[in-house]
Amino acid sequence: MAKYRIALLPGDGIGKDVMDAAKIVLENLALDAEYVHADIGWEFWCKEGEPFPQRTVDLLKTCDCALFAAITSKPKEEAEAELIPELQGQGLIYRSPIVRLRQQFDLYTNLRPCKSFTGNPLNYRDDIDLVMFRENTEGLYSGVEFYPLPEEVRVALKAHNARMASFDAVPSEDIALSARIFTRKGCRRIVRRAFEYADRHGYPTVTIVEKPNVIRETSGLMVREARQIAAEYPHIELWETNVDAMAMWLVKNPQNYGVLVSSNMFGDIISDLAAQLVGGLGFASSGNIGDDFAVFEPTHGSAPKYAGMYKVNPMAMLLAVKLMLDWLGEPEQAATLERAIAEVIAEGRVRTYDMKGNASTLDVARAVAKKL
Ligand code: NAI
Ligand code: MG
Repeated sequence: MAKYRIALLPGDGIGKDVMDAAKIVLENLALDAEYVHADIGWEFWCKEGEPFPQRTVDLLKTCDCALFAAITSKPKEEAEAELIPELQGQGLIYRSPIVRLRQQFDLYTNLRPCKSFTGNPLNYRDDIDLVMFRENTEGLYSGVEFYPLPEEVRVALKAHNARMASFDAVPSEDIALSARIFTRKGCRRIVRRAFEYADRHGYPTVTIVEKPNVIRETSGLMVREARQIAAEYPHIELWETNVDAMAMWLVKNPQNYGVLVSSNMFGDIISDLAAQLVGGLGFASSGNIGDDFAVFEPTHGSAPKYAGMYKVNPMAMLLAVKLMLDWLGEPEQAATLERAIAEVIAEGRVRTYDMKGNASTLDVARAVAKKL
């Protein structure tokens, strides 16, 4: 039996292209692993009415971790229209499998490193080395939402918060409400993972990115928890910034920051900004990490216009493989892969279209594999 069992979920569109690239690299790594394919994505929604079939959930439970590429998601009405005729009109509702995967397996850490590789023509600056920790299961993405506002909810809000009075004149049919739910446990664990990471990898600062001066209760809870945890790490400085200011600072002085930590939605936005500073979607990798399971993925989607053309940059996917190796406890393999990626970027001979080259997805993977 192999040491690791790893699920491969290519998904849709260019997900398949970049997963083929990952396979080339995995075959050339000295990793004692067995790889199993798992179904996920649009194809299974259309054919089965379920983009994340139960057999995939069961299979993931037999694995150490998973590599996921990308899926296609569409709004409610469009999704319904693409179901096979037998499945239409049954009230099936499309929900993003990746969001469900994160919630079902309690993958509460979204880890998104943003590092400028020497020689990448897409770098905003050449000295950026940021790592974003984004809470991945709660906050504004909890899915606790109302429209129109139910009467009981309205009455309860009014009874408990005087500020609700400013909406008295607005009819409930004209009010939408999304709950921003933070738990102490949720705040603590994401901040702790950020400090542990900073400690292990030698980052001198952790920056908490919230907005406690305005969103007092939720952001306030997270910042207070961060201060407590920071006290356990006297050698690491806690910096506190508001999310709006952070967007400016990241454009002004991104090189000053190390580890960043934030809640679900702010972290989503800030990590996209940070990703663009180091090459954009072709370079943005991420990990969805829980206490005993993790899913690694490029952050890009299925880019339907390039599907099957083997044109897109596989670096984000290959960097996701690198994150997986780190998480599995294979730091040497991870370092070897990162070095190979860095060499290919620095040499500049094999580049995809986004880097102004004309190499294919698989050419890049082969160039990286050759350097392992
Ligand atoms: P997208 O990330 O798929 O692509 C946007 C554009 O970015 C592409 O047209 C392409 O120009 C560029 N791009 C993306 N990946 C690239 C790569 N590896 N190398 C070079 N260029 C790259 O986002 P879009 O077009 O908004 O969404 C397409 C579909 O993907 C939608 O159905 C959306 O719901 C889904 N999606 C899925 C995600 C996931 O699987 N985690 C994340 C984002 C979107
Ligand atoms: Mg995003």
